[in-house]
This record gives sequence, structure tokens and C-alpha cells, in this order.
Amino acid sequence: MQEPTHAATEPRTTGASADATPDGPTGLPFVGSVRPFARDPLEFVTRTAREYGPVSYYELGTYSVYQVSDPDLVRHVLVDRNERYVKGDLFDRTLRPVLGRGLLTSEGSFWREHRHRLQPAFHPDQIADAAETMTTYASDVSAEWTDGEARDVHADMMRLTVEVVADALFDADIRESEADIGRALTVVMDVVSDRMGYPVEVPSWLPTRNNRRFRRAVETLRRVADEILADHDRSADPDEGDVVSLLVDGQAGAVDDHAGSGASGNGVTGVHDGGLPREQARDEIVTILLAGHETTALALTYAFHVLGRYPDVERRLGAELDDVLGGRPPTVEDLADLTYTERVVKESMRLYPPVWELVREPVVNDVVGGYRIPAGETVSMHQWVLHRDPDLYDDPLAFRPDRWTEEMEASLPPYAYFPFGGGPRRCIGDRFAMLEARLVLATIAQEWRFEPLDDLSFSPSITLRPDGPVEMVTHRR
Ligand code: HEM
Repeated sequence: MQEPTHAATEPRTTGASADATPDGPTGLPFVGSVRPFARDPLEFVTRTAREYGPVSYYELGTYSVYQVSDPDLVRHVLVDRNERYVKGDLFDRTLRPVLGRGLLTSEGSFWREHRHRLQPAFHPDQIADAAETMTTYASDVSAEWTDGEARDVHADMMRLTVEVVADALFDADIRESEADIGRALTVVMDVVSDRMGYPVEVPSWLPTRNNRRFRRAVETLRRVADEILADHDRSADPDEGDVVSLLVDGQAGAVDDHAGSGASGNGVTGVHDGGLPREQARDEIVTILLAGHETTALALTYAFHVLGRYPDVERRLGAELDDVLGGRPPTVEDLADLTYTERVVKESMRLYPPVWELVREPVVNDVVGGYRIPAGETVSMHQWVLHRDPDLYDDPLAFRPDRWTEEMEASLPPYAYFPFGGGPRRCIGDRFAMLEARLVLATIAQEWRFEPLDDLSFSPSITLRPDGPVEMVTHRR
């Protein structure tokens, strides 16, 4: 579907009786709004927010959805009242069969303990060590390109980011098995996308083509995770701070007292400095492989695409890179001087947020924006909607990196911009991703200009995926 162009049509509505159901599109009996949603989810959620205001209601098959489209109310759900919410049924149905009880899909004290265990791998000092890996892989990709060639830049970025995650976080070189991993990740994301679109679940034991492909792909990813774990076991000199060491060997201090205190009720005891059971370690590796590469690949792909559409911005970026780097690869120390580069990344993630929607379920009734949301219903919040809200951004559909001044950021309401989510479940890889996006962009945009062959067109599922190859002609600068 093509990128919709929306202007504000109605002011935000306010106030409500806690017993009333919010207004929203009515849809058809039994299926509700499945059809218009499936036809163009981005257009549907944008129009719904603009027409019905901060909280709206609609049905998608068996799901009753409360769409929340106001920064303060998003904060209410993600931060102020986060303890009342879980990721819920949609995550259980789509991601849990692949990720098991990895960080993205687990809850409660089990999640908290794993989050604290992994946190040291994402400490700024630890991440800074990954900078050279990021620029090296980016230079390798750049060296494969030739002048005037049409390339699927999305495919290149997917390969690059999966290699970076494996090397930087797992100390594993996966270049030989990269093709298998890439195919498996694509199948998994395709099937997850399909399942998200279905109001009725197709049982996973049915021998459908999708179920068979899915099972094989999950097996491949688990095998890769097992190999990474086996390599770590064999290694005489494992990297102490990396994800695999934290999972397998643990580390004193990886879990604070607070996190370890509660009885988990799910079989996990407070072992802080020992290893996790094999299956749990494997789930975390597959989670980080999946969560840590597609999103960053999308951020980079869309940044290159939009740069190709805005030659003035591309030229200004090129001038900054020439000025600061003079042709050499960027380092962490250069980042303070690459201010325009950072603004390009922020602005392209505003327009094209790699995660376009967050979903939650209240475990007890909550009141949001004056409306009662019953336990077990679905709450959805959209980066896509708020990042393009004309009440929050001037000329919201224009790509203007210069809007990201310090003053603008200080005046922007929290959660008007939330590419990495927020609250305790905020992305654990946010700093890693920002480092990678800036370093890879700087490495590649020093050498290349982009000429997109088509407009962007999306097939949104959990992430804002393109609905086909994102082909661009690469021109040497
Ligand atoms: C531009 C790149 C990225 C974007 C836009 C992004 C976005 C997000 C968002 C929005 C969430 C919250 C999901 C929710 O609340 O339901 C999240 C969670 C997560 N992300 Fe990222 N992410 C990116 C890169 C990464 C990287 C590089 C890693 C790891 C290397 C990573 C690992 C994770 C994990 C493990 C979670 C679950 C955290 C938890 O629940 O404790 N992400 N990400």
C-alpha cells in the first residue's frame, strides 16, 4: 500500500464518561473493521485517530481494540500504569512460538530477571566496543556496490545488521550460514505477518504450507542459537561482557536485588551469577537476533530512500561527513560532531518508524482518557500516527532533519516521538541501534548517493516492513 497523505480533519475530542465506549469506526457484524484495516492499516489507524480523537474503539474480528492516540495517554499505558498491562494475546499468538520466553515476549519477574541479566551487554561502554564491527561490516557492503547499479538496499541492510548483531553481541561470525539465517528470519516474519492479519487462528498443528515453512524456519534459528552456545562453550577466551556470556555464565551484579527479590511463580529462582537453562538462553539469542536486526535494517533502508528523495538534505549530509571524516571511517568519538547525521536518523525514524505500533492488554480494568478499558481487551498505540500528527509537528509529512533542534526536543511532549517504545519495556537495544544507524549511515553515505526506483510501499506487521524489494540505484559521490 502506498504511503497515505493525511492532513488533520478534526480537532482532538476530550472528556468522556468512564462507562461509555469510545467512538470509532463501526465496521460489519462479526468481522468489525477487519477489511479496511487489512486493506491499509496505516491509513485506517491514521484516519481513526484524526476522526475520533485520543481514544477510539473498533473491532477486528474477535479483538476489541482501544486505539490510544495522544502522547500523555501513551505515557499512561507504557509508564505510569505499566504494571497493569501485559503484551497479551497478540504477542502470544504471533511471536511466542518463535521467541519462547525471550525478553520481548516474557512477563513479570521472569522478564525482569532476564532484563537485568542482559543489561550489562547494552551498557554504553560495552556498546562502544561494537563501533568498529559496525563500520567494518558497513565498509564491506559498500565495497560490493558498483556505480550506477540497481540494488535491493533493504536486502543488503538486513544482511549487514544480522552480521553486526551476531558479531558484536554473540561474538559469532555467521557469514557462512547467513543465507540460511536470512531465509529463516524472512519466513518467520512473513508468517507472523500473516497470522497478525487473521482474525481467526489457523491451528499450528495443521500441516498447512505456512505452518510447515514456519516450523522449519524456527528449527533453523534454534539450531543457529545452539551453535552459538556450543561455540561459546568451546571458546578458551570468551568475551566476558557479551550476551552469550551473560546468559551462559552469568555475572555477579547482572541482576540487582530488587529484580531478583520476588518469587517468580514460573519455576525461575533467583540465580544471579550462574547460567540460564539452555532453552532459555536459546530463546534470548533468537529474540535478540530477530529484534536486533530487522528494525535497524528498516531504519537504514528508509533513511537511504528518503535521502534519495531530498537531494538538498543528502548534499548537506555529505558536506558534514566530508568535513568531519574526510574519507576515513567514523568512530564513536566523531559522533559528537556528526549532529546533522543524527538528525537525519531521527527524522527518518519519525516518518518511517521501524516499529509502527505497540500493543498491550490491561490485566485489570483501567481508565484511559476517561474511558474504562476492560481487562483483557487490546490497547493499540501507533508511532506512525503520533509521529505524523499535525498538532505535534509542523508540516508533519515533510522530511526536515533540521526540525530536531534542542529547543524543539525540549518542547516536544514526551511520547510524541517514541520509536523505541517506553517505560520498563523500552527497547533494550536503543543505544546499540542509534550507534549502528549513525555509523553505518555515515560510512555508506560518504561514498554513495541513492536514486530510489519506486515510492515506498508497506506491508506492516509487527514492524513497518516494505512490501517488496526496496530498489535504488547507487551512485558514487
Ligand atoms: C532502530 C532500531 C530499533 C527499533 C526502532 C526498536 C524498537 C523497539 C520497540 C518499540 C520495542 C518495545 C516493544 C514493546 O514495547 O512492545 C523494542 C523492544 C526490544 N528491542 Fe528493540 N528496536 C530497535 C533495535 C533493537 C536492537 C539493536 C536490539 C538488540 C540488539 C533490540 C532488542 C530489543 C529487545 C530485546 C526488546 C524487548 C525489551 C523488553 O521487553 O525488555 N532492539 N524495540
